[in-house]
Amino acid sequence: MVRYFFTRTARIPGFEVEHNQFLRTARTVFVNFKYRGFVPTILGIMARFASKLQLPVMQKFMFQEQGSEYTWLDTGGIVEVQNLDLPEEKQRAATRYEAASEYEFRDVVERLKIPYKKYHFLDYGSGKGAILAAAVAYPFKSVVGVEHSLMLHEVATKNILEMKRRNSVAAEALNSVHGDAATYQLAPEPHIIYLYNSFDANILRAVAERITHDLVGVQEPIYFLYNNPMHHVVLDENDKFQKISSPFGGKWMVYSVSP
Ligand SMILES: C[S@@+](CC[C@H](N)C(=O)[O-])C[C@H]1O[C@@H](n2cnc3c(N)ncnc32)[C@H](O)[C@@H]1O
Repeated sequence: MVRYFFTRTARIPGFEVEHNQFLRTARTVFVNFKYRGFVPTILGIMARFASKLQLPVMQKFMFQEQGSEYTWLDTGGIVEVQNLDLPEEKQRAATRYEAASEYEFRDVVERLKIPYKKYHFLDYGSGKGAILAAAVAYPFKSVVGVEHSLMLHEVATKNILEMKRRNSVAAEALNSVHGDAATYQLAPEPHIIYLYNSFDANILRAVAERITHDLVGVQEPIYFLYNNPMHHVVLDENDKFQKISSPFGGKWMVYSVSP
């Protein structure tokens, strides 16, 4: 138990960047109070303790089992890379599909305190669109996801139609683009760019170059939100990227970009 809370380690080695478990847990509890409310959070904490003690009770109250607000969207499940409809060399550079926590995302975005209307939001490797669904709740100038798997892009397109049908879109525009993040061209305007460990260091290097090339001349601060930053060294070594915070004990890293 003591090791779990205080070591700087990955919960799922190989799938998660090393981070401080104590700080992550503290922020996760805070975020659940903030967005889910008191009772679901207390039940979630009790369920977590029960699971640590290997008691087969309260499983359905674990935070991951309590699920997302968007139960009406098809964003769940894990799609392993070998099951993505991509050629082998692209599979090798990619990670599997898995939706991120919308609550962590909302907390990180809201702390930026930016004028949403001036900003485009871009998700590199948007999958079925789970984070697009969370991002469109803010009045961004546009919300765009780039996804290279046609199969996942088509699911995202259906989800987007459903978001529009339910009037849950506060952003001016919302799209899923079928394509490779490394070749996606950004409009030269303010951006919040989000990445949930979608690809390897080489693609990240290409993406970082694209961002600094395409956004040159943009006056407003540009932010890069890196969730599960397995290849953060690529950005740490790039003098146009400046790390400004490491939320959730380093399970996220937030950079400001000066193209
Ligand atoms: C971990 S999932 C993230 C899903 C979503 N962004 C979220 O946070 O919930 C990573 C996604 O990136 C996609 N991906 C991987 N490499 C890519 C690339 N080079 N271009 C576009 N999408 C890519 C995968 O197909 C997968 O859907």
